[in-house]
Amino acid sequence: MARMIALVPAAGSGSRFGAPSPKQYLQLNGKPLMWHTLATLAAVPGVDEVAVVVSPQDEWFDGFDWDLPKLSVRRVGGSSRAESVANGLAALACAEDDWVLVHDAARCCLSVAAVERLIAALSGHAVGGLLALPVPDTVKRADADGHVAATVPRNGLWLAQTPQMFRAGVLENALRGVAAEDITDEAAAVERLGLKPLLVEGDAQNFKVTYPRDLALARAILAAREDY
Ligand code: CTP
Ligand code: MG
Repeated sequence: MARMIALVPAAGSGSRFGAPSPKQYLQLNGKPLMWHTLATLAAVPGVDEVAVVVSPQDEWFDGFDWDLPKLSVRRVGGSSRAESVANGLAALACAEDDWVLVHDAARCCLSVAAVERLIAALSGHAVGGLLALPVPDTVKRADADGHVAATVPRNGLWLAQTPQMFRAGVLENALRGVAAEDITDEAAAVERLGLKPLLVEGDAQNFKVTYPRDLALARAILAAREDY
């Protein structure tokens, strides 16, 4: 039977966040930020393994007792997110029809329900798909001076999130030979093969912690979940 593997790139340095340690290791509600991410993925019944990819030079991972089922670590992170994902995929040695769910370590407010929605929507799908959010606001295109050049119809526009879930064989083919700087998510690489990933509605809570100001929101979302 096809396995389902969550692949979590966590080899970034968090340069925009600007903390002394990478943002995925910052303390958030008593645990490293990434613990919340990994715990959610491990709590999804269909997920067989949660494989986190850290940098070969990582100084932090071994300092925590992660105490999570299904967790494994691959120390093969690269110089870009795409490289970390490609290296992690190679290290996993999946079967072609295994499912791989690539999820950013820094999206720590992912919910089990959203992952289950993604998995259910893709059951029987040949290619795969991703969580994404229909653009809620009115969209403007700016000119060079920061004035509005146009109002862009938001109909049909989605913001891509993760997990992005693809058959391992499809993902390997898609990532082979693409320059890391040319793609910003796995779906873009898959689209280049002429395939059409399915958009599955995510939620706004599944945002990526990028700047220090994002931490207060993440803290509040996670604390509210612990309350009930
Ligand atoms: N990532 C990775 N390997 C890299 C760069 C990023 O595994 N060489 C991971 C990050 O750890 C993060 C995810 O990809 O979980 C999304 O990247 P981003 O939010 O951009 O994190 P950083 O690259 O660490 O942050 P910044 O761009 O501000 O430096
Ligand atoms: Mg980055």
